[in-house]
Order: sequence, then structure tokens, then C-alpha cells
Amino acid sequence: MKAHIVTLPGDGVGPEVTAAAVAVLHAVAEHFGHEFTFEEHAIGGCAIDAHGEPLPKASLEACKKADAVLLGAVGGPKWSDPNAPVRPEQGLLALRAALGVYANLRPLQVHPALARLSPLKEEKLKHVDVLFVRELTGGAYFGAKTRTADTATDECKYTVAEIERVTRRAFDLARQRRRHVTSVDKANVLETSRLWRSTVQRIAAEYPDVKLEHQLVDSMAMLLLTQPGRYDVVVTENLFGDILTDEAAALAGSLGLLPSASLGDGFNGLYEPIHGSAPDIAGQNVANPTGAILSVALLLRHSLELEEEANAVEAAIDEVLRDGPHTRDIGGTAGTAEVQAAVLTALEEHASNSAAFFSGARACG
Ligand code: NAD
Ligand code: IPM
Ligand code: MN
Repeated sequence: MKAHIVTLPGDGVGPEVTAAAVAVLHAVAEHFGHEFTFEEHAIGGCAIDAHGEPLPKASLEACKKADAVLLGAVGGPKWSDPNAPVRPEQGLLALRAALGVYANLRPLQVHPALARLSPLKEEKLKHVDVLFVRELTGGAYFGAKTRTADTATDECKYTVAEIERVTRRAFDLARQRRRHVTSVDKANVLETSRLWRSTVQRIAAEYPDVKLEHQLVDSMAMLLLTQPGRYDVVVTENLFGDILTDEAAALAGSLGLLPSASLGDGFNGLYEPIHGSAPDIAGQNVANPTGAILSVALLLRHSLELEEEANAVEAAIDEVLRDGPHTRDIGGTAGTAEVQAAVLTALEEHASNSAAFFSGARACG
């Protein structure tokens, strides 16, 4: 198949992990006989420096036309002055809103070879397989903001329609998994959470085959550490989802491991690792590219409907996490480029075992 992919490497380690992810896409195209074209654009701090704004019009227009968008990370100390008139993160938020990608899928699995790195006891990590569905285009991130000399406000607003669509997405995904949804809110305090809870409850009636439970976010933060194996799909609002998924990454062993897919109603999606620009390690070739490469697997699955290719990428990552090489964050000494090379080798092997493997001879008859 032909697909046009826009890449937005961004700031800090963004370009390093995006380069690894793009190399994997090139290899998938070669092994499976696809034609992927790439177009790189600016976002974040580097876009502020070069164009005066974090999401230049040309970047946004290209993303809207693409089949999928692959992003590295934005932000960093250079642009983090609290009084700065414009911030890199505004570019990412504007992009999510403009693409209408309201459902942010963040899968968490714990690789057995890395369980020893987690702060939790290994036996707690058996059977951990959670899919977070984070609402991505509403809530406090997008409400009105005010600021005076001694007061600041961030409005947190949700509409029924916003809650309904992300809830349906979560229940649809649960039907492909273990049919269990946990909805996380703060309904004992927040009005938005009370609307969230009653809306989720009503939509759940359309899915009698899926079990629903509600959990308050503070106790959820604790339960994620004490009983991570009991969760299947976790659906929650924007800010709670941001926080809980970084916590979840600690179970996996590193923030550098988790991918994400941000989806709307069409096929075009935004794919990015859940970590940030990691300024403390940027430019040193030590960033873990796993989250970015697993985001490529999600891109293949959700935007291009190439399930076999997605599985091959995941199998390659699985093998490298098992056998190494490993970057520093997961206890190794390898660089980003070395891990990338190992993934490409493993991918070639898994691709050739796959039914969709592209054979020039076969294609030429
Ligand atoms: P961060 O995720 O950048 O880093 C937190 C810690 O995790 C650091 O110690 C870092 O070295 C480590 N880490 C992150 N990614 C890693 C990787 N791939 N391999 C190895 N270690 C990794 O979070 P932060 O320091 O709170 O934020 C830094 C900047 O990134 C901020 O400006 C923030 O707004 C931005 N940010 C951007 C995104 C995004 O673009 N999607 C996401 C989160 C944070
Ligand atoms: C993430 C990030 C972003 C968020 C920031 C950079 C705006 O932390 O993707 O998790 O909070 O959504
Ligand atoms: Mn985050």
C-alpha cells in the first residue's frame, strides 16, 4: 500500500527517537512491499525559534493531509520561562485539537525481562496488560485561562458529547480485550467528574457484555501500584490520564518504553511516545527509542490497518527487550542507534516469517 506520513521530531530527544522510528517504517516498507513517503515538519521549541510559533501553518496543513503523523517530543528548559508569551507545548495541544484526536490510547505491558527494574515486587507485575484511554482534547488543558498579578484560573469543562465519544471508544476497545472498563474520575468533588460518571454509566448500558467499574482517581493512583494486574481498559479525563500513565510507565521499568496513539473518528492519527523531550539526556544517543518504535506499530495498526506489520514490529521489540541491547534507563549501556540496529535485525527475521512478507520473486511472478 501507499501511505504518506508526516514526521514532527520536535525538541530534545524527539529527533533521536523519531529517527529510530522512521528507520523502522522504512524497513517495514521494504520487507512488506509498501510505499511510504515522508515529510518532516517543525513543531515545539524549534518551531518557535525558526518560525516564531510552536505550530507553523505549514506543519498543521501537512498533518491534516497525511495518512498518519509521527511525533517525537516538544519542550525544554530553553522555552520554559513561566512568563514566556508562547510555549512549545501549545503547539502539541493545538495539533491534537486541530486533528480532532480525542482518544489517546496508551497501552501498558510489563516485559518479563524488565520486571526486576520496576520498583514493585516482580510477582505483582505478572499479567499486567492495561490499555489507558485518555480523553485528549478537553478538560483543564483546553478551558479558558485567566491570570492577574495574584490570581490564576484554568477552567475545566467537559460536554456530554465529549465524554460519550471517548467512552464508546473505550468500550469498543474493551470488546477486543477482556471486556472490563474502569472509569476514573473525582466525582466526590468535581462537577465535571459527576457528569463524566453519569455519562459513562449511561453509555455502558449499550455494552451489557462489558463490565464497568468506577474508581476515584486518588485511590486509583494507589491501586495501580498495589493491584496493577486487575485492570483491562482504563478510561479517564485528560489530566488524570496524563498523570496515571507516567505512573504506569514506572511499572514497565522506564518512561522511555510506552507508546501512544491519538485517534479521532477518521483514520489519520497522531503517534508519539508518552515521554517528553528528556532534556537531561538529549543529544547523547542514550534515549530509549522503544516508546517511539512501538508507536510505529500502533500507527501501522490503527491508521494503515496493517496488523501483520504491526505485530512484526512488536515482536522485534519484544525480542530486543528480552535479549538486549538495552539503553541506560533499563540497565544497559547501549546507545539509541545500537538498539535501533538490533530492532531492524529482529524485524527482518520476524517479517520473513510473516505471511505478508514481500518477496520480489513472488511479486514478479
Ligand atoms: P520527560 O518525559 O522529558 O523526562 C522525565 C525523565 O524520564 C527524565 O529523567 C528523562 O531522562 C527520562 N526519559 C524520558 N524519555 C526517555 C527515553 N526515551 N529514554 C530514557 N529516558 C527517558 O519529562 P519532563 O522532564 O517532565 O519534561 C521535559 C519536557 O518535555 C517539558 O518541557 C515537557 O513539557 C515536555 N514533555 C513533552 C511531551 C510530548 O511532547 N509529548 C511529553 C511529556 C513532556
Ligand atoms: C504528554 C505530555 C503533554 C500532555 C504535554 C507536553 C502537553 O505530558 O503527552 O503526556 O500533558 O499531554
Ligand atoms: Mn505526559
